[in-house]
Amino acid sequence: MNVGIFGGTFDPVHKAHVEIAQLIKDQYNLDKILFIPTGNPPHKVGRRVTLASHRVNMLRLALQGKENFDISCIEAYSDEPSYSVKTLSILRKNNPDDNYYFIIGADSLVYLPDWKDYLTLITMCTFIAVMRPGFSKEICKAAYDKVTKDGATVIMGDFPEYDISSTDIRFAFENNLIIDNSQISRYVDPQVYEYIKANNLYKSKEKRRMTIDEMMEDLKLLLSKDRYVHSLGVMNEAVRIARLYGADVEKCRCAGLLHDCAKQLSSAQYKWLGITGSVDPNGVAGTRDYDDGGKAARHGRAGAVLASLRYGIDDPEILEAIAVHTTGKPEMSVVAQIIFIADYTEINRGDDKCYQKVREKINVSLMEAIIEECDYTIKHNLKRKDRLLSLDTIKTRNWALSELLKNN
Ligand SMILES: [Fe+2]
Ligand SMILES: [Fe+2]
Repeated sequence: MNVGIFGGTFDPVHKAHVEIAQLIKDQYNLDKILFIPTGNPPHKVGRRVTLASHRVNMLRLALQGKENFDISCIEAYSDEPSYSVKTLSILRKNNPDDNYYFIIGADSLVYLPDWKDYLTLITMCTFIAVMRPGFSKEICKAAYDKVTKDGATVIMGDFPEYDISSTDIRFAFENNLIIDNSQISRYVDPQVYEYIKANNLYKSKEKRRMTIDEMMEDLKLLLSKDRYVHSLGVMNEAVRIARLYGADVEKCRCAGLLHDCAKQLSSAQYKWLGITGSVDPNGVAGTRDYDDGGKAARHGRAGAVLASLRYGIDDPEILEAIAVHTTGKPEMSVVAQIIFIADYTEINRGDDKCYQKVREKINVSLMEAIIEECDYTIKHNLKRKDRLLSLDTIKTRNWALSELLKNN
């Protein structure tokens, strides 16, 4: 029998898992797909994986009535870390006549040589590598060349890319974005949805303001290491500038830490936060808007929504500071002015002339620092073809200049 092995945390299983399994089964004439939920995956650090019994139950619900789709709990209930080489040895020993086809994300080909007992593992099965959204085909090709040279048999699967992940689904539940099944029925089997609700699996965060320490812990899960370090840098710089100008230190600390909290969300997550469209909403039709793949224009606005939903922030000054930190806004509060500047002058930006000049202006006045920063942004974005300019930045520059003239 030809058996496809589909491992994963399935936390939770979603419709793309099931659809892709069906496509693979049909395309490669497999007799069966065996879903193998992981127990305690060695490669996942940071987030606690949901109890295996719940993940297995959700899989059962999602696979009900699907012929030739089975579940193996060989890894799920083991106290030992799950290693593919071990799982395959057990399967092969129990079913010596079966051929195994190991389904993996094409991006995993890159890390395959780091898997436990890699050279043994590649002799035990054929790999079916499935492309995942946003992953470079060239990198996959290089990884394919390497592992096939080492002796692996790999079939590169060409399947439709799905715009959904378990992370997105958990995010929607955790942030109270899902009110009824209709919002999520495209992604999750209705019975799985009911199971998640009934067992309160991806608990909504309690609606209260988190402490700064709690926010830091949480941000480590949402941001890459570099982005997290940058956020700490902006927080410290915002506090320094706030002290210099007698502004509200605690508001600046909080806004600085959270300003990029939505920087690395997926498209589905943006959609659930109600942030759609890729261009700056304050742009004027016919003019060029600031847009680097949409995220620059959106992540400030999305960040303000997330700060309210996830971190319990209701202070309008903090929310405004997060929303406008990329482009600036005329008449923005002192907290927003400070975050706008601190995002630019925090220590990890390095000491290029453009940053140094704004740092020098901080010692003169906030308005001069804002003008310097806007000037650079305007010039820089006009020069580059891939970076478009927000009208808000031009308006912010003009406003800061008029404020400066008023005071002189
Ligand atoms: Fe940002
Ligand atoms: Fe930033």
